[in-house]
Amino acid sequence: MVSLGVFIDSVVQIRGGVHRYPVVVNAGLLDQLGRYTRKYLPRETSAIISDSNVARLLADRVKMSLASAGFRPTLIMIPAGEKSKTLKQAGAICDRMIAAGLDRKSFVIGLGGGVIGDISGFVAAIYHRGIPHIQIPTTLLAMVDSSIGGKTGVDTPAGKNLIGAFHRPSLVIDDVDVLKTLPPRQFNQGFAEVIKHAVIADANMFRMLQSWKAGAAPALQRLIKRNIEIKSRIVAKDERDRTGERALLNFGHTVGHAIERAGDYRKFLHGEAVSLGIVAACGVSMKKTGLPPDQHTAIVDLLGQFGLPTRLPSDFPRRKILDAVKFDKKFEDGKIRFVVTPRIGMAYVADNVTLDDVREAVKQL
Ligand SMILES: NC(=O)c1ccc[n+]([C@@H]2O[C@H](COP(=O)([O-])OP(=O)(O)OC[C@H]3O[C@@H](n4cnc5c(N)ncnc54)[C@H](O)[C@@H]3O)[C@@H](O)[C@H]2O)c1
Ligand SMILES: [Zn+2]
Repeated sequence: MVSLGVFIDSVVQIRGGVHRYPVVVNAGLLDQLGRYTRKYLPRETSAIISDSNVARLLADRVKMSLASAGFRPTLIMIPAGEKSKTLKQAGAICDRMIAAGLDRKSFVIGLGGGVIGDISGFVAAIYHRGIPHIQIPTTLLAMVDSSIGGKTGVDTPAGKNLIGAFHRPSLVIDDVDVLKTLPPRQFNQGFAEVIKHAVIADANMFRMLQSWKAGAAPALQRLIKRNIEIKSRIVAKDERDRTGERALLNFGHTVGHAIERAGDYRKFLHGEAVSLGIVAACGVSMKKTGLPPDQHTAIVDLLGQFGLPTRLPSDFPRRKILDAVKFDKKFEDGKIRFVVTPRIGMAYVADNVTLDDVREAVKQL
């Protein structure tokens, strides 16, 4: 039986089966990276995979910190953005690692947001049939969500994350200082996943967010830790996404993914689309589970408080959203598996939600 993630000092020991890995959350951690890496990865050769924005800001510091502990990593930089998350790019990274002489005793460090986390993790999963992966998430979304849970992968023209592998990191380093350079829109989109976690699992955190004041670093650190704990606890029950527990994390994502797709992945950032998806999921929840209207309002207000969209622009192609839901999801007897919340702090997968229910909720957006 797997158990919960627990905090040890600032280290979250995530347990999934017999494997545990530390997630360290603190300020100023990049300068201690060499020390942490020595402690947790007794290996020599490595590649740092990063994107053009993040490498410009942080690669030198990361390299210096690693050098102070005797590491000589190879830096591999790819263009920033989702369009880099492809099989072709993963192959090109592998070729460069081969050229740099890296072998099965090497390891990979992903330095960047969720795009880098996913593609570097995927490369780590397939290179020499799997080598260790260190995640250094540099966006809020990557810290509270994508670096936790071991899902790695790339996109194809047919859709996002269609090719991938489960590959747990060996170490996750969350240096909250790196978030200072994150553009506000990117920072805010991370709160969509934070609010999602609150709605599905933590009413106390929801109340805390309602009185959130921007700028307090220790509070942000605590918030990140809490979110890692929530996600890892859910993942630990269903690491391979088989029993349905992990599906709770898809709250707001059925409609959210459809909105991203309908907007050609340009109109909204992932977290913004998820914010709209959460509003739609709350609409379905009011009808199907009796979510009280005042809680629905509180959720919408909280999303708005973090600058997240809660209404669709009038010119948005709404019809495309339903087409995308149909493309993405299997309907059985006209019903879809859809995550609903009966009250803040709780969620479950309902099997009685129809396409009409979803259509009605999207109409309200
Ligand atoms: N594996 C999972 O479980 C999981 C979960 C959620 C999302 N994801 C994936 O995560 C990706 C989205 O992640 P994201 O939102 O972090 O996107 P991203 O990695 O594209 O980063 C967003 C932008 O911010 C820039 N950036 C990153 N850190 C910065 C910093 N510290 N300062 C300044 N700029 C910085 C990046 O260069 C990029 O332009 C998607 O591909 C999604 O599929 C994966
Ligand atoms: Zn998400």
